[in-house]
Amino acid sequence: MGATGTSKTMVIQGGRENLVGRVEVPGDKSISHRATMLGALGEGTTRIRNFLPASDCLSTLEVVRGLGVEVVYSQDEVLVRGLGLKGWRQPTRSLECGGSGTTMRLMAGLLAGLPLYSILAGNTQLSRRPMDRVAVPLRQMGATILGDDDGKYPPLSILGGDLRAIRYEMPIASAQVKSAVLLAGLFAQGVTSVVEAAVTRDHTERMLTAMGVRVESEAGMVQVHPSPHLEPLDLRVPADMSSAAFLLAIAAVVPGSRVMVPGVGINPGRVGILHVLRKMGAEVCLHNQRVDAGEPVADIEVRYGTLRGISIGAEDVPTMIDELPVLAVIATQAEGVTEVRGAAELRVKETDRIATTVSELRRMGARIEALEDGFVVEGPTRLHGAHVESHDDHRLAMSLAVAALAASGETTIEGAACLSDSFPGFEEQVAQLIGY
Ligand code: S3P
Repeated sequence: MGATGTSKTMVIQGGRENLVGRVEVPGDKSISHRATMLGALGEGTTRIRNFLPASDCLSTLEVVRGLGVEVVYSQDEVLVRGLGLKGWRQPTRSLECGGSGTTMRLMAGLLAGLPLYSILAGNTQLSRRPMDRVAVPLRQMGATILGDDDGKYPPLSILGGDLRAIRYEMPIASAQVKSAVLLAGLFAQGVTSVVEAAVTRDHTERMLTAMGVRVESEAGMVQVHPSPHLEPLDLRVPADMSSAAFLLAIAAVVPGSRVMVPGVGINPGRVGILHVLRKMGAEVCLHNQRVDAGEPVADIEVRYGTLRGISIGAEDVPTMIDELPVLAVIATQAEGVTEVRGAAELRVKETDRIATTVSELRRMGARIEALEDGFVVEGPTRLHGAHVESHDDHRLAMSLAVAALAASGETTIEGAACLSDSFPGFEEQVAQLIGY
């Protein structure tokens, strides 16, 4: 490693073997966002320990501050002084979501329910990401939502209030869309239902339940009842599976390695990568399984093993959507063909992750082809060090770092500052693992 957390370039020496260690991963991004937003609506102070201090979650803190909510942030603890379901104040400026899609989409759901006029804005990257997926159902519920290009893109102007419940069949598998509709449902007349074709993360449902809201889930459907108030939370955010995945992937691709990450959230909507690693031949052990603040948690250990290719289809994709770029890296070290299909959603993430993953891994010698809705990798390949580019996509940057450790020679990753979008401290954790 030749870089610090703030540098723009990460330089990694490859050809590693026998990386053994226990590494720490910061708090879960999805849960940090939700605890902040819902805490801001609670009756009293919500305490969030192990809050993820990544730029995406800091955007959420600023957005709730813009609605009049006091937030006290010290060390890794955040106190959110909730104003109750009706206490948010009319914002006097636009609410800046930075590059965070979760902030914009979930806040759109909440703001749709309140009699406020608000503008949700994003940076250049977020301004290219589709928002009609939340605007369409929220308009059906009665909110007025305008946006760029006929309401499809940020900034979103929202005039909320007077919502009616709907039954929404999601055309895409998305926890963000499901959450936006359920959150709007807190304020609607009647019971709001969301029907989903595949399992997605259910952090919103679990947190609402912990705050006293009536939420009912059965196969493929979630219902939320409007609520008179939310009880505040006192929670410790588990480590983020989507960040742990990169460190665990190092164990899967670097011969002789064994990596342990403690206290990781193993929500059923997040653990697809663990099932896939196991099926591919890595040894995956969950130790000390427990439930913390309504979320399942475990210490996860992965050991290197000879890997074989695998086929992933649409039903598996949502539980590992953010891990697919690093799966492409893992697949380069597996015997045979790995095919991922039904993952067109990758095209509308921070970057078009099919195009960027394919182009950057090819520079390192990977045999990888893009499909309209996924990719195909042929392995195993001895990757070689190269000059690669993150395209300002944190998950691509970390995937390339994993590839670099397995590759021969030196890799330079340009645009590494984006690591702080989800995993501040990633470089330090990798450095610890490789013994620097
Ligand atoms: C998230 C859901 C997923 C995921 C994103 C976080 C969430 O997005 O990719 O990083 O917190 O609900 P989609 O709902 O768009 O799949």
